[in-house]
Amino acid sequence: MTIKACVIGWPVEHSRSPLIHGYWLDKHAIDGRYSRQGVAPDDFGNFVRAMPERSFAGGNVTVPHKEAALKCADAADAAAREIGAANTLWFEEGKLHASNTDAYGFLANLDEGAPGWDEARPIAMVLGAGGASRAILHALLSRGISEIRLLNRTFSRAQALAAHFGDRVRVQDWEARDDLCAGCGVLVNTTTLGMTGEAPLEIDLKGLSSDAVVTDLVYAPLQTQLLRRAGDKGLRSVNGLGMLLHQAVPGFEKWFGVRPQVTSELRTLIAADIEGAS
Ligand code: ATR
Repeated sequence: MTIKACVIGWPVEHSRSPLIHGYWLDKHAIDGRYSRQGVAPDDFGNFVRAMPERSFAGGNVTVPHKEAALKCADAADAAAREIGAANTLWFEEGKLHASNTDAYGFLANLDEGAPGWDEARPIAMVLGAGGASRAILHALLSRGISEIRLLNRTFSRAQALAAHFGDRVRVQDWEARDDLCAGCGVLVNTTTLGMTGEAPLEIDLKGLSSDAVVTDLVYAPLQTQLLRRAGDKGLRSVNGLGMLLHQAVPGFEKWFGVRPQVTSELRTLIAADIEGAS
């Protein structure tokens, strides 16, 4: 019987998950299907509960449903609980399970693109305090990062986010970001600045450690101005594409029973789609 999974969002047309999972389904010759499901917020709970009778093994969840997905679940793993949101759902013996694979995807991308990046327990700077930022803070803390400087245009939002974590997360002033780079070994942009159609992220990188790694969650364009400037300074830079690809791995394994690989062929396929759309 065909195994079904999907991405649930509202809107959902922009999602590249069908392309990623479709590639792996082909690669492994699995009798499966992965679709987009546009579901309005009021319908989300009913949609998810009806998934087993519609032969869905589970699905990914994207904006604006990630928090609702956690609330719906009968069981959630530590990452989903600590991030306060879920992006991956599956059924086991009739029970709905939830995980959040964004932190995993972020770390797998950095490990691949900048091996050893966390060995010296660098100070990290995280820009932005939205939903994505919470997953990144969780990820960095899980690797033993001793200090995270959290900066957001809206200071109170950064304070509210930091309250979920211990005193290793220190809220700082957005306007002081140039000076606050001093001594940092990791810089993460989780804001929407630098996305196609948005203003670039203005920041002077000169204070960063010479072995620093700069990474951007923005993946459209693939090479943001931030990453280009980091490269020009001889710093390591890691774009956001790998996070998108790696975060998809655990869900595919849950639904279809095979742990897929993030190959260079998959990267090229998704990169071409992103570049074609911009
Ligand atoms: P996500 O869930 O993807 O993190 P979000 O919750 O909409 O998205 O958060 C967007 C982030 O980009 C926020 O940190 C936002 O800052 P505010 O909390 O002050 O809104 C940040 N952001 C968006 N536009 C920005 C801008 N022009 N300057 C600085 N930060 C900006």
